[in-house]
Amino acid sequence: MKEKFYITTPIYYPNDVPHIGHAYTTIAADIIARWNKLNGKDVFFLTGTDDHGKKIADSAKKKGLSPKEFTDELIPEFKEAWKKLNIDYDRFIRTTDLDHKKVVQDILQKVYDKGDIYKGEYEGLYCVSCEAYYTQKELEENNCPIHKKPVENLKEETYFFRLSKYQTKLLNLYEKNKEFISPKHRRQEVINRVKEGLNDISISRTSFDWGIQIPFDKKHISYVWFDALFNYYSATLQKGKEDFWPANLHIIGKDILWFHTVYWPAFLMSAGLELPKVIYAHGWWTFNREKISKSRGKVINVDELVNIAGVDSARYFLFRESSFGEDGDFSSKSLIERHNNELANKLGNLVSRVSALAEKYGIEKTNNTLIKKLNNKKINEYFEEFRIDKALNEIFAFLDICNEYIQNKKPWETKDKKVLYELVEALREISKLLSPFIPESAEKISNIFKTNKIKKSPIIFKKIDE
Ligand code: MSP
Repeated sequence: MKEKFYITTPIYYPNDVPHIGHAYTTIAADIIARWNKLNGKDVFFLTGTDDHGKKIADSAKKKGLSPKEFTDELIPEFKEAWKKLNIDYDRFIRTTDLDHKKVVQDILQKVYDKGDIYKGEYEGLYCVSCEAYYTQKELEENNCPIHKKPVENLKEETYFFRLSKYQTKLLNLYEKNKEFISPKHRRQEVINRVKEGLNDISISRTSFDWGIQIPFDKKHISYVWFDALFNYYSATLQKGKEDFWPANLHIIGKDILWFHTVYWPAFLMSAGLELPKVIYAHGWWTFNREKISKSRGKVINVDELVNIAGVDSARYFLFRESSFGEDGDFSSKSLIERHNNELANKLGNLVSRVSALAEKYGIEKTNNTLIKKLNNKKINEYFEEFRIDKALNEIFAFLDICNEYIQNKKPWETKDKKVLYELVEALREISKLLSPFIPESAEKISNIFKTNKIKKSPIIFKKIDE
């Protein structure tokens, strides 16, 4: 039986069209999913949306729509974006899906019966007109910033989850499974904070109703993160996917590390479920060196990203420009530069030259010395550690070697069929290795060299004016 590999993206808040940040997480997961498929694994790749919660309810209200209508309008935008980016996911889950809602309710009941959920009171500064709590910092001269009216110190009935009970268990988990919080440099900040102590957390709301009802008290709805995190598990209860839990890898951004490495394992431990193997947090993108912000126009959505130089150049750029796990800065200028200098000049040109010469002079099998310079072992290791930027670097390092080889051997003068054979074989291998990153272009390259009757290829990466 094939080895199973289960990978997820976070589920996105569908309150606006997806932008480069969402695209980055999703492409990363797609690259890793494709790599594992290529290596013969039975892969389940899950993505979706986080439909509940106050944020969505408020955005819907502003548009004069019900939260369900509002999110129903945005979901096609996400699906369309992933199609444009060539994301080959297996299921798009929404937290409003019935199967998911049922799982969350069953788990809430289970955790409640176990004694890990108890009723208490949440105390805070409340604006009745807004039906919302504010922190002291958010107030304007002790008034609600929207209604400019005094707030009340209000106590609300809520259910708490006994997070405090899991402190030692969590610390043991981080100690025993060093990869649980990845990459390495993210571990210590979580460990330090958990060591400081954990407060129980409020996991129900009564001030709005856009969420999953708490089964043992219908006045309450589930806190959005309790609901959302379980999407990863509920998707594996669907027919045919039962053997995929626990997940091998949750790809997330660094901003949601705490929820995934503290709340999530504690909820799972409480529910008596197995824990995911790796939570991998990537860094954040800025846009022309500024924080991405919709309101200030500092944002690039998926359409814009794809329109700059095509889908594969966008996918390539994001994992070449910054190392996976660190922050990066996006600019169209550097995307175009990389498209021209790397994809068009290094890869595209080599494909054109080799295919044209192979058509003209033919190829002849030989003991291949060039391919030995490809460090497959290292590339595999990088992929196993999810260092996809490093894997990509390594593939391009080999491409440089191939370009030097053709320069030195000058097969256009020597008409050496053996050298051309070596280069053809190298490009066959390169197209396979690049297929998770740039699936469309890699397929084109692979088709050119599919048989030994090679024809001069059309241009794969057209240069773009800078
Ligand atoms: N709904 C929650 C996740 C629940 S998972 C059980 C959420 N949604 S989100 O839509 O706000 O963000 C989802 C992902 O997009 C996060 O991984 C976040 O890091 C990523 N990004 C959002 N902006 C980003 C950048 N500027 N750069 C890189 N990724 C960023 O959080």
